[in-house]
Amino acid sequence: MNKKILVTYASRTGSTTQIAEAIHKTLVKNGEEADLLLIENVNDLSPYHAVIIGSPIRKSQWLPEGMQFLQIHRAELARKRVATFTVCITMAMSNTELYQDAVRQWIAPVRALLHPISEGLFAGRLDFNKLPWTLDTLLLRITVAFGVFPKGDHRDWNAIDAWAQDLPPLLLQ
Ligand SMILES: Cc1cc2nc3c(=O)[nH]c(=O)nc-3n(C[C@H](O)[C@H](O)[C@H](O)COP(=O)(O)O)c2cc1C
Repeated sequence: MNKKILVTYASRTGSTTQIAEAIHKTLVKNGEEADLLLIENVNDLSPYHAVIIGSPIRKSQWLPEGMQFLQIHRAELARKRVATFTVCITMAMSNTELYQDAVRQWIAPVRALLHPISEGLFAGRLDFNKLPWTLDTLLLRITVAFGVFPKGDHRDWNAIDAWAQDLPPLLLQ
């Protein structure tokens, strides 16, 4: 029997959900046994040999429910193979190389809680139709208006698929 993999994710406007779905699809297509669950719906990690955990960035941090998951399951995650993926709009900025260091700083608190064997960094989607009017989203609109963040869908499905293809040999050792 295959060793089972869990793909779990936090998301607010669905773009990370779809990335998690794509990762799960690639794993299953390649013959792996894998479950896909929203982070709030994970109660028991015991069936899984490996866990892939993803969150978007909001205000330079993983979503609180993502961080909470890492804290709650920290001891068990330390005994499993873990990969993380992070979704943000900074990864869509033209000089991605320059900004990757900043993104890596944002995920330092994640790394303080676990030791991922691989970290995916993916460009996300900024769709103001899916966002309410709040102070945070107003500030975001301003950064877009000033050309700091690009709006629109910048997800690179080939990069996501390639990352997922490379995971099984790392996760299932
Ligand atoms: C309120 C808010 C704050 C955000 N803050 C950041 C940020 O600090 N850095 C960044 O690169 N992207 C930021 N983003 C962009 C999100 O990471 C991006 O839109 C992501 O694809 C959203 O994922 P989701 O659809 O799964 O919620 C922010 C988006 C929102 C709505």
